[in-house]
Amino acid sequence: MIIVKTAQELDAMRASGKLAAQILASVARSVRPGVTTRELDELADRLIMASGAKSAFYGYRGYPGHICVSVNEEVVHGIPGPRVVQLGDVVSLDIGVEYHGFVGDNATTVLVGVTNPEVVRLAAVGQQALAAAMQMARAGRRLSDISHAVQRTAESAGFSVVRDFVGHGVGRRLHEDPQIPNFGPPGHGPKLKPGMTFALEPMLNMGVAEVEVLGDGWTVVTRDRKPSVHFEHSVALRDGEPVVLTVAE
Ligand code: MF3
Ligand code: CO
Repeated sequence: MIIVKTAQELDAMRASGKLAAQILASVARSVRPGVTTRELDELADRLIMASGAKSAFYGYRGYPGHICVSVNEEVVHGIPGPRVVQLGDVVSLDIGVEYHGFVGDNATTVLVGVTNPEVVRLAAVGQQALAAAMQMARAGRRLSDISHAVQRTAESAGFSVVRDFVGHGVGRRLHEDPQIPNFGPPGHGPKLKPGMTFALEPMLNMGVAEVEVLGDGWTVVTRDRKPSVHFEHSVALRDGEPVVLTVAE
C-alpha cells in the first residue's frame, strides 16, 4: 500500500525536505579541489546535528556515513573517506534527514571544473530527467508514467539509466512503498493520488546502464567505469499537483 499523507503530514514533510535541501546546498558549495569526501560528511553531520535533525542514512542497514558522496564512475552510495576531490571530478551528493519524525531525501551532482562537454551534457540531461519525472507526479497519472519520462529523457539524449537502483516512497521512513524504477512503459502501476509523497531519483550513465557494487558492500560503480550523475527530490502530490519538498527556501 502506498501511504497517503494528511495536510498536516505534508506540512511536516515540507520542513524536513527544506532542511535536507538547505544542507545539500551548503555541502554542495563546499565541494572544491582538495576537500576530502570525509570533510564533506563531517560538515553535513555538523549541520544536521545543529538543526536538531538526524541523518536518515547513518546506520541504515549498517551504512557507515552520514551522507553519500559518489565520485566519477561511482553512481550512488559512495562512503565518505580520505578521497580528495580533484579538478574535473563529477561529485554526486545524496543527503537525507529525519526531522520531527519525517524524512527529506535529496541528491545533486556537482561538476568540479569539468570541461568535457559530454559530461556537462550528461548532468544537464540528468536534471531534465528529474524535472520530467516530477511533471508526471500528479493525480490521475500512473506510477510508471514517472519511470517512462526518465527513461525517454535519458535515452533520447544518448545516455542510459541505472536499473538496479530506484526511487521510492518517502515519509516517516526513508524507504516506503512503492519502488519507482527510472525505466519502463507508460500507463502501468497504481494510479497516483493526492497526498502521496515520493523520492524521485534518476541515475544516468554516460556509457552502459550496468553497475556493480564494490567490495565495501556499498559503493555502486558503472561497469564500464564511465561517469554517472544522480539528481533527487522529495515530491508531494498536494491537491494532486506536484510540489517539490526539497527546496531550500
Ligand atoms: N537516496 C538514497 C536512497 O534513497 C540513499 C540511501 S543511502 C543509505 O536510497 F545508506 F541509506 F542506504
Ligand atoms: Co532516495
